[in-house]
Amino acid sequence: MTLVLGIESSCDETAAALVTGDRRILAQAIASQEAEHAPYGGVVPEIAARAHAERLAPLVEKVLREADVTLADCDAIAATAGPGLIGGVMVGLVTAKALAMASDTPLLAINHLEGHALSPRLADSTLAFPYALLLVSGGHCQILRVAGVGQYQRLATTIDDALGEAFDKTAKILGLGYPGGPAVERLAMQGDAAAVDLPRPMKGSKEPHFSFAGLKSAVLRAKEAQGSRGFSYSDADIAASFQQAALDCILDRTRKALKAMQPVTALVVAGGVAANQTIRSGLEQLAREHGLAFTAPPLALCTDNAAMIAWAGIERLREGFSADPLDLQARPRWPLDPDAEAVRGAGVKA
Ligand code: KG4
Ligand code: ZN
Repeated sequence: MTLVLGIESSCDETAAALVTGDRRILAQAIASQEAEHAPYGGVVPEIAARAHAERLAPLVEKVLREADVTLADCDAIAATAGPGLIGGVMVGLVTAKALAMASDTPLLAINHLEGHALSPRLADSTLAFPYALLLVSGGHCQILRVAGVGQYQRLATTIDDALGEAFDKTAKILGLGYPGGPAVERLAMQGDAAAVDLPRPMKGSKEPHFSFAGLKSAVLRAKEAQGSRGFSYSDADIAASFQQAALDCILDRTRKALKAMQPVTALVVAGGVAANQTIRSGLEQLAREHGLAFTAPPLALCTDNAAMIAWAGIERLREGFSADPLDLQARPRWPLDPDAEAVRGAGVKA
């Protein structure tokens, strides 16, 4: 049975996991850095890199102990090699290289986005290629056609902010702290989604790309106008209206992309924002309309984790991809689809 150790350190979660070829997560450990970054309202790269360096080795020891295996039992060590905050990625990759060298185990350099893209197949053994993937996280907002391991066609990206970023900025405007997504979702439950008139950027536009900067600015204006005559809505109303506007954009853009990429077997949503229940159920409905299966990984596999990195390693081993050299460099940028056309404004953010 294939066994892979996964390591993730590209943003603000330090994580290690042991996953088997038959989809069992033997052990996993995640150390979140929320508390370290919260005072700054966002991830501070230097703090993140230091925290990864302090925590990663003990986490690897912990999962090996819990699963009662050694590095020598592993078929490979899979580590995120990008894209992400370069200091953190380097810590994870250099740790993986050292472990690989010491135990004479192959190293697999994994694209973090590939981890997200394949994570639904770790949770769902019936999910077959090709599928439509909406990848929505703090740094990325893309629609991809996933035709196989290593075969990704990007149909859409954001021309400014990622969706998770828009959630985080909305949370900041409403004073909800960091990370914002879950807090906005909680507050939105008590609000009226029709209370605040917000724009739906890019809705109806020809290409299925995203834009969220205008929506974020509109949230800021709504907050500033709150309480003045004719603007008697609550923070919960703003949160709910924002979430609804975001969902409308996503549905419109995904509908557009689906038209361009059929046939696919399923609509899949992955990345941190996939934890949002309103967005999940909106997409589920959209999939139904198109006669497609719908899959979203369980919440723990949506946000950054090492099981998805280990799983991407397993998928790569199965497909016969060879091990990576120990002098491989970490990559701050690493598109899943290198052939995708450059989009005005895209790539400005992480
Ligand atoms: O995939 P992820 O853990 O890290 C990145 O690779 O970016 O995604 C984190 C993002 C954050 O922006 C966070 O606010 C957002 O996912 N997020 C959510 C929810 N949970 C996490 N956004 C909306 N609703 C949620 N429940
Ligand atoms: Zn991620």
